[in-house]
Amino acid sequence: MTRVFSGIQPSGDLHLGNYLGALVNWVGMQDRADCVYCVVDLHAITSPAEHDHATLPQRTLDAATVLLAVGVDPERSILFVQSHLHEHAECTWLFNCVAGFGELRKMPQFREKSEGKGESVSVGLFDYPVLQAADILLYHADEVPVGEDQRHHIELARDIGQRFNHRFGDEVFTLPKAIHPPAAARVRDLQEPTSKMSKSTSSDKGIVNLLDDPKRIEKKFKSAVTDSATDIRYDRTEKPGVSNLLEILSAATDRDIPDLVTEYDGQGYGTFKGAVAEAVIEMVRPIQERHAELASDPGEIERLLKQGADRAREVAAPTLARAKAAIGLLPPSR
Ligand code: TYM
Repeated sequence: MTRVFSGIQPSGDLHLGNYLGALVNWVGMQDRADCVYCVVDLHAITSPAEHDHATLPQRTLDAATVLLAVGVDPERSILFVQSHLHEHAECTWLFNCVAGFGELRKMPQFREKSEGKGESVSVGLFDYPVLQAADILLYHADEVPVGEDQRHHIELARDIGQRFNHRFGDEVFTLPKAIHPPAAARVRDLQEPTSKMSKSTSSDKGIVNLLDDPKRIEKKFKSAVTDSATDIRYDRTEKPGVSNLLEILSAATDRDIPDLVTEYDGQGYGTFKGAVAEAVIEMVRPIQERHAELASDPGEIERLLKQGADRAREVAAPTLARAKAAIGLLPPSR
């Protein structure tokens, strides 16, 4: 059976970009694959500006709660917290000795996040994609459902796996490929539609959180930046705001963009934005209801995460043992 792996940082309140770019596929793939999903708290400590040690434990639990609310099914899939398995950090070390300084320096996310920080940028931020490669490769993942922004990281994981297999002569690792949704693989900020919707850079008005109440969602879409024309058509360069809304509406209603253009062109931006808001509100309603139920019993979420970590270890530990043997480390005697 196809094996799927993906991860998400524990920002607590996940947003529409996370959902449409990745989580919809996470949920859908459970019907046809063996899925392993992870809250990547070790990735969340790589940049001081985003790392709040006091709230991280709660945000980790909150992220897991939202994942369950969107439909990750702990009976069928493995859901766990990255730091609960030492295997990820250990495998990262092996990969550090295989990854090149040059290829890591070129990673777009590293370049963006390290810009202007000079020499103070953390080694963890630099090494971030290597940890991500360990996440994926430890589980022999064939497919990795992610948004467009993760494309380079998945390619790097593939390169590291291939190099490792080639250099150490054993097919230890499966080479993964990224899976993106047909629309909304890169949801833009509602206020700055040329930039990605992002927890770390978007303003509150530019970002729609899955747990925002309906009034707030409506307000955010109504004040979304479009342009001074009135036509509704898909053109990423000339009409980034309208195109972003079309993608969101397409993903939320499962309708094709040309079909939506035919329906809404000529109706004015007000009506169109109202329709997008309504579709998103309807989409998140069941998630919010389920979230309210789940959040009332955090002990149960912790129990599920422990069970998830135990199941994850059954896959990750033997992979790591094989990798250590292949790279030439003497196994301890029993
Ligand atoms: P993260 O936590 O930033 O985002 C989680 C998922 O949401 C997607 N995403 C978006 N998709 C469309 N439009 C957006 N505006 C948007 N913003 C976020 C991301 O592409 C991602 O799929 N490095 C990863 C986490 C990670 C991981 C992994 C992913 C760690 N290990 C192994 C896959 C496999 C990250 O920071 O995602």
